[in-house]
Amino acid sequence: MTNQEKYKAFEERSKNAELGGGIKRIEKQHAAGRLTARERIDVLLDPGTFVEFDKFVVHRTKDFEMDKTVFPGDGVVSGYGKVDGRLIYVYAQDFTVFGGSLSRTNADKIIKVTKLAMKNGAPIIGLNDSGGARIQEGVQSLAGYADIFWLNTKASGVVPQISAILGPCAGGAVYSPALTDFIFMVKDSSYMFVTGPDVVKSVTNEEVTKKELGGAITHNTKSGVAHFMSEDDESSIMSIRELLSFLPSNNMDAAPMVKNDDPIDRTDDKLDDLVPADPNKPYDIKELITSVVDNGYFYEVQEHFAQNIVIGYGRMDGRTVGFVANQPAHFAGVLDINSSIKAARFVRFCDAFNIPLITLVDVPGFLPGTVQEYGGIIKHGAKLLYAFSEATVPKITLITRKAYGGAYDVMNSKHIGADINFAYPSAEIAVMGADGAVNILYRNLEGEELANKVQEYKAAFANPYKAAEMGYIDEIILPRNTRKRLIEALDMTKNKSEQSPAKKHGNIPL
Ligand code: HXC
Repeated sequence: MTNQEKYKAFEERSKNAELGGGIKRIEKQHAAGRLTARERIDVLLDPGTFVEFDKFVVHRTKDFEMDKTVFPGDGVVSGYGKVDGRLIYVYAQDFTVFGGSLSRTNADKIIKVTKLAMKNGAPIIGLNDSGGARIQEGVQSLAGYADIFWLNTKASGVVPQISAILGPCAGGAVYSPALTDFIFMVKDSSYMFVTGPDVVKSVTNEEVTKKELGGAITHNTKSGVAHFMSEDDESSIMSIRELLSFLPSNNMDAAPMVKNDDPIDRTDDKLDDLVPADPNKPYDIKELITSVVDNGYFYEVQEHFAQNIVIGYGRMDGRTVGFVANQPAHFAGVLDINSSIKAARFVRFCDAFNIPLITLVDVPGFLPGTVQEYGGIIKHGAKLLYAFSEATVPKITLITRKAYGGAYDVMNSKHIGADINFAYPSAEIAVMGADGAVNILYRNLEGEELANKVQEYKAAFANPYKAAEMGYIDEIILPRNTRKRLIEALDMTKNKSEQSPAKKHGNIPL
């Protein structure tokens, strides 16, 4: 064979490997409204930047006549490339090869890129589309999964780990994503469950569809397992690119600075009227967030879950900031189990990756009742308390209206380590609302006498001045100046350095 013939043979072999499980299965994948693994990588990466590893890796199983069915690459495409010019590592499971199921060799490919991501300090993105453990491989596949889970845990807090669920993901295929930082799903074509509807039926006798059990709506609204939901593969993957633009490449880096053309001293008179004078009237806290961030652009995380708290990213003078905000427009912004967990995990991610936090407070307290108490609101609320207390990134708080009871303490108060605490003149910082307080203190009063006591309580506590007198609020600011004051505070704290006591790790209440 001449060299030219060898090159040609190699090119043919390489092209053949790109067909995965073959044209028929690719057509089936397209007919289901899904892209193939390679097409997904093309959407994710800057054009022409993908470098593939292990294209010719094959499985080594002989049981079940598996040696007769061998596909180069063995059901996962992996390598590295660039997103907006920045290095990332990627693997995409290929459903056309044994349903994207995980074999020993296929696991080793995922492990290879994850280790490189950790060593070279770049995010790892998993595009998942897998029927779980490769049934024909038995324990080898389980071992492959466990090796990946172990590595996911080691990589946690070192490099951002992002998972897209782009097909039916079952069994082991959901646990690696669950260990990563963010999960993206597609509305009508992706599923996550530990066991599918058939097993559910046989064990619990419950009749449930795939979609109800583990579709994108279920995991974005009910379980809180997923963070994002898109219409199709392409928009889901584009959304990953967007998320990456807010994140640093690793835990030693800062998030990328974006050139900012939005004036940092821009005022917004509309904000003076945002918070209604009546404390029982709702308003949308996202209006405040979009008013203060650069160019009004806010990238919300877990938009559909526990909507009584809002989390997400924006930029302030070009720098990424994580927002945590009570949402008075949903259940009056009360803290409950789901909102506490949602915010706590977000705070911990921001802290792990050097992203400053801005907390906006309008919270009537923790939600009372048996559902919450039996569900463990004490330990779940403690997660948020723990997360804010442990975070050492710059932490800035603004109380817009209510900051009542334990929720005042929890929502990044001065006492748990906030660097700068602002309040609007409309802030009410007290143990509880006036009516509740007076009812407890003056049980026997009624009518005018009771009303007078309510007024007395309001005059004493329904304002920010008691807290400002104590220095718990650093400054009372006018709403229209919020952007400028927040940016000044972020700038002032940008070199913050705070060490926690040496320990192996803390014990967050789980
Ligand atoms: C080997 C598999 C496979 C698997 C699917 N295939 N899952 N091969 N191991 N786990 C193959 C099918 O045989 C088929 O091959 C092709 O992939 C496409 O599968 P279909 O069933 O035709 O597709 P669809 O109807 O879309 O259904 C997809 C599915 C279903 C919902 C994922 O295939 C399914 O339920 N698979 C099994 C899921 C499961 O129970 N996995 C094990 C979980 S236990 P051909 O040749 O026809 O194209 C586990 C343990 C780890 O993961 C636990 C760690 C914590």
